[in-house]
Amino acid sequence: MASTTKSVPIIDMADLQTLPEKIVRVCEELGCFRLINHGISMSLMSEMKAVIRSLLDLPLEVKMKNSNPLEPSKGYTPPNLASPFFDSLSLYDMASPGAVEDFCSQMDASSYQREIINKYTSALINLVQFLGSKLVEGLGLNGELFKEGICQLKMNKYNYGPETVGLTGAVMHSDAGLFTILHDDDDVNGLEAVDDKTGELISVDPVPGTLVINVGDAGKVWSNGRFCNVKHQVQCYKPTTRITIALFVLPPKDEKVEVLPQLVNSDHPALYVPFDFEHYRKLRISTSSPTGEALEFFR
Ligand code: SIN
Ligand code: FE2
Repeated sequence: MASTTKSVPIIDMADLQTLPEKIVRVCEELGCFRLINHGISMSLMSEMKAVIRSLLDLPLEVKMKNSNPLEPSKGYTPPNLASPFFDSLSLYDMASPGAVEDFCSQMDASSYQREIINKYTSALINLVQFLGSKLVEGLGLNGELFKEGICQLKMNKYNYGPETVGLTGAVMHSDAGLFTILHDDDDVNGLEAVDDKTGELISVDPVPGTLVINVGDAGKVWSNGRFCNVKHQVQCYKPTTRITIALFVLPPKDEKVEVLPQLVNSDHPALYVPFDFEHYRKLRISTSSPTGEALEFFR
């Protein structure tokens, strides 16, 4: 794939007047953008990153106490055959009562670590609601439409040694949910996104204190095919440890993933039939379609 010197667009969240229209435009064009002035302080971001780094640096046997292969969206996922130099921690349904406390207890977090994790997750939940409402506004719909999705926080560690340099730490994929808020690594390059219109591979270079937003498969369905479910991968070219924190905003439980009804009219018929998100996730895996091809089953 041809690589390019292009960079992802930057959206300034302080620019309230034009924000809805700009967000919609970048979601349609690339499906990936960098968000600045998002209201989460630089100090809280680096404190959270340090806390997560220390949890992921715990000895394997300590982390393994929180691993359940039957529930990979919760707790610790160790390196495996497919990803031998990658491990992660997950906090599923982060906004539900007690979820953050349960996670902190499982990880034996100190009171300082708990305080930072609580502050950071609350700030992210506010940001999800704010971004969701701006997306809806930008699509020309009334502000009530964005129902709170399930927020899954996934904390990733890519351990690149001399023998794994140049290998993909995360294979080319699109995210399955509505959208993702990624707190990438301040110093370590590695995320690459595909411009779907041209096929170019764009290096998503770090900008400290900012966040990356990616549209996922459910976001493409939700917008009736207008938004681009951006394909991306992680690949590092020098020995390094890359730590990232991704917040996946997933469709609400017990609700079908469907085209927003207000976007359907005689000129724009619904491109997808409603489907169950968990069923879709399993279909992505069983048909080896990490970049969203399985959406075609619901056309
Ligand atoms: C991902 O999209 O799978 C993770 C991105 C990252 O860790 O940079
Ligand atoms: Fe991803």
